[in-house]
Amino acid sequence: MQLQDILYSQGFGTRRVCAGLIQQGLVQVYESNEAITPVEYRQSATEFAADGLRLRVQGIDWPYHQKAYVMLHKPLATECSQKPSTYPSIYTLLPSPLRLRPQKGAVQGVQAVGRLDQDTSGLLLLTDDGKFIHRMSSPRHHVPKVYEVIVKHPLSDAQVNKLLAGVVLDDDPKPVRAAACEAVSSHHLRLTLTEGKYHQVKRMVAAVSNRVEALHRSQMGGLRLPDDLAPGQWRWLSQADLASISA
Ligand code: URA
Repeated sequence: MQLQDILYSQGFGTRRVCAGLIQQGLVQVYESNEAITPVEYRQSATEFAADGLRLRVQGIDWPYHQKAYVMLHKPLATECSQKPSTYPSIYTLLPSPLRLRPQKGAVQGVQAVGRLDQDTSGLLLLTDDGKFIHRMSSPRHHVPKVYEVIVKHPLSDAQVNKLLAGVVLDDDPKPVRAAACEAVSSHHLRLTLTEGKYHQVKRMVAAVSNRVEALHRSQMGGLRLPDDLAPGQWRWLSQADLASISA
């Protein structure tokens, strides 16, 4: 694949912009897996095998990914919308190549896999793999999501048992139940859900006469939000991370 096409596929702008970056000497390539120092290329037509290629563009390391899968530690007071109404969009937290990755010739960028409320923090996945988003959002694909919930009133065994047995929400007569639920302390509930209904945690907790004061998603499937990923930071997902989600 030509170097300019590789850069284009990674979201560094139009082919013309990418050719410009290369000609200006702003693109370097690590020539082997072990290479510590990258080599500058000024010919945009130079051919490389894209898989596993490590680039350095304008001083920033950028490993080639045919599809992008990332995790974001969503901070509070951000919206999971491209067109937010009140708070900044989570997309502003991502570097521009992730937002400008092309798909079928048009700028598409990565999209969030499901949404978290503006006042919820924690683990959010984003990708430009439409099939992955579809699979993860399908009701048949029950990925358990773990929420750390701080509640207003002290928790009782009855509340925990009701959440496990199932509560009825206002939009569906069929009860929804927590796949797991434990009181970590008097005001800290750990709730695992396999569905993703609108405001589900808040509504379930309200249905047992309590109230959510703070909400954080700590885990999706076997993938935990790493302790060293601060709010607002993102990270590429490895193959092992991806496998752990549905493991
Ligand atoms: N449940 C909610 O109520 N809000 C979220 O953001 C996620 C799950």
